[in-house]
Amino acid sequence: MSPAERFRLDGQLALVTGASSGIGRHCSELLASMGAKVALASRRIDQLESIVKAIEQKGGLAKAFPLDVTNIESVKACFDAISEWGTPSIVINNAGISVTKSILEQTETDWDQVIDTNLKGVWLVATEAARHMVASKTSGSIINMASILGERQINGVAPYAISKAGVIQLTKTMALELARYQIRVNAILPGYVVTDLNREFLQSELGEKLRLRIPSRRFSELSDLDGPILLLASDAGKAISGSTIPVDGAHLVSSL
Ligand code: NAI
Repeated sequence: MSPAERFRLDGQLALVTGASSGIGRHCSELLASMGAKVALASRRIDQLESIVKAIEQKGGLAKAFPLDVTNIESVKACFDAISEWGTPSIVINNAGISVTKSILEQTETDWDQVIDTNLKGVWLVATEAARHMVASKTSGSIINMASILGERQINGVAPYAISKAGVIQLTKTMALELARYQIRVNAILPGYVVTDLNREFLQSELGEKLRLRIPSRRFSELSDLDGPILLLASDAGKAISGSTIPVDGAHLVSSL
């Protein structure tokens, strides 16, 4: 197999959570373009159907599945539904939310929603995925979408930053325990990635101030995630597990 061929994903089934927008949608289309069948999962199933169509129009294979990552019954039902199609060997834990308020204003509900989605949700999906892989003797790759805020701080998003720090440690402990089953677990730590949801803010005056604090002086584009995702998902990254890869234009190592 040539080095380039090792990045192909033919014959693999990938599950992407939070696939209805932004990074999740982009990852789904990327994995399909490299030959994987893609199970797109999110609460908003109607929005997934149009992405399934877009993937099919480009010759890819995809199906939509309802999933609320905060709910164990929903997670189990999603894997049961997907199992008729196969066992996912690639899982992208991408679903995530944030609540922006000062630490004095964050409520218990804010905390619960963010931690349940970003941390408990990743744990529920990753462990259920691993159980299916082990039962079917499938080697696999679990990729958790953390954030540079799992390692650094900014104002106003304490539960989010704490949840992402938890995802980083979850990634490393799962990598340790699952290595014997040939299941790899890694995390990607994006910096600011331009998506439909934040484009307006990132182009505003405040966004411009933020950009100037990034050593590379640029926000990331969705396509900047392609290399890291394909490396971790494919045979090219066969020996990589327990790693955390920042994709941030050196934001994480910016000068204090
Ligand atoms: P987004 O808001 O466009 O996508 C989040 C997705 O998660 C949506 O499809 C939403 O429906 C889904 N979701 C939320 N709660 C869910 C639940 N309970 N069950 C199932 N799906 C649920 O946001 P974006 O920017 O694409 O973010 C994706 C991931 O990347 C998140 O984990 C986020 O924290 C992370 N990230 C994003 C960065 C950025 O600059 N866009 C930077 C660093 C990390």
